[in-house]
Amino acid sequence: MKALVTGGAGFIGSHLAEALAARGARVIVLDSAANAQRRNLEWIRSGGGVEVVEGDAGNPILLGQLLPGTDCVLHHAALPSVPRSVADPLESNTQNLDATLRLLIASRDAGVRRFVFASSSSIYGDSDAPSKHEELPPQPLSPYALQKYAAERYGQLFHRLYGFPAVSLRYFNVFGPRQAFDSPYSGVIAKFCAGFLAGTAPVIHGDGRQSRDFTYISNVVAGNLLTLDAPEARVAGRVFNIACGRSIDLLQLVADLNALTGLKLTPRFEPPRIGDVKHSRADIQAAKEALGYAPATDWETGLRLTLDWYRTAAQSSC
Ligand SMILES: NC(=O)c1ccc[n+]([C@@H]2O[C@H](COP(=O)([O-])OP(=O)(O)OC[C@H]3O[C@@H](n4cnc5c(N)ncnc54)[C@H](O)[C@@H]3O)[C@@H](O)[C@H]2O)c1
Repeated sequence: MKALVTGGAGFIGSHLAEALAARGARVIVLDSAANAQRRNLEWIRSGGGVEVVEGDAGNPILLGQLLPGTDCVLHHAALPSVPRSVADPLESNTQNLDATLRLLIASRDAGVRRFVFASSSSIYGDSDAPSKHEELPPQPLSPYALQKYAAERYGQLFHRLYGFPAVSLRYFNVFGPRQAFDSPYSGVIAKFCAGFLAGTAPVIHGDGRQSRDFTYISNVVAGNLLTLDAPEARVAGRVFNIACGRSIDLLQLVADLNALTGLKLTPRFEPPRIGDVKHSRADIQAAKEALGYAPATDWETGLRLTLDWYRTAAQSSC
């Protein structure tokens, strides 16, 4: 099997590329910052069937060279940040939506047999539903969420119009090793883990009661592999939540990190951020039924593994 992983030098994409290579697939990692993100690709062995290409996932000329003979595309290239999309909606749209449409067209023309799009729980916005299921009306609260929703709909339209087997996976706050911690747009667990290891008090926007269905990276990798393996009729043109079905609030996250590190850090509270949603918990029944998905790594294990990874990464960078 030949697979193209866009954003393959990023956090999620690099784990997917590694898992596909471990299965014996030929993998092309396409990433516009592949060289800057080399530390995420240290697992690549020469002769292991992985090719790294630095370039834009929306560049049709490059895609025309890379896609022939490709069986599946896992599209994970994006500017994955709500605040960044609020600050610069146009650039965010170019990277998140325009590039996706170009990639869909090139993949359709190349006869790709499975296209997995990395969508996001942010699509649900501030829905009052206690758990978010795929049939809820979307309420995007940020340009990022709107772009993800539009890209999902393009995938569904490509299935309807051209029979193209696009599938969208709505991820709920993924965390784990390799997630960047040093950007203003980093995920909260990455930032807090790095902060705790440096003994710095965590900063919480809002009252800390906001909750998320934090999902460890191995569960997301499993969701993707199951999507690739599933019969086309069961998944093409569909959208699935990939999460754990349990939510944790930020005060709990701080308490758990204090317990794991033996510290007693108290958070510093700042005003809530525009575009952020208050609560997020997934209904994962559809993925269970269609894909046989079940989150194998729970919150406690995932948080411990993640903290261990940042500890080791911090030591090896000294
Ligand atoms: N991390 C999460 O919690 C989460 C939740 C929901 C959805 N997602 C989605 O999953 C995907 C991966 O997220 P991540 O957390 O690994 O982010 P990441 O920033 O670690 O990885 C994204 C990668 O995409 C690359 N990229 C950006 N624009 C590109 C382009 N036009 N062409 C080629 N490469 C490009 C970046 O260089 C980066 O390496 C994104 O689409 C994101 O929106 C992530």
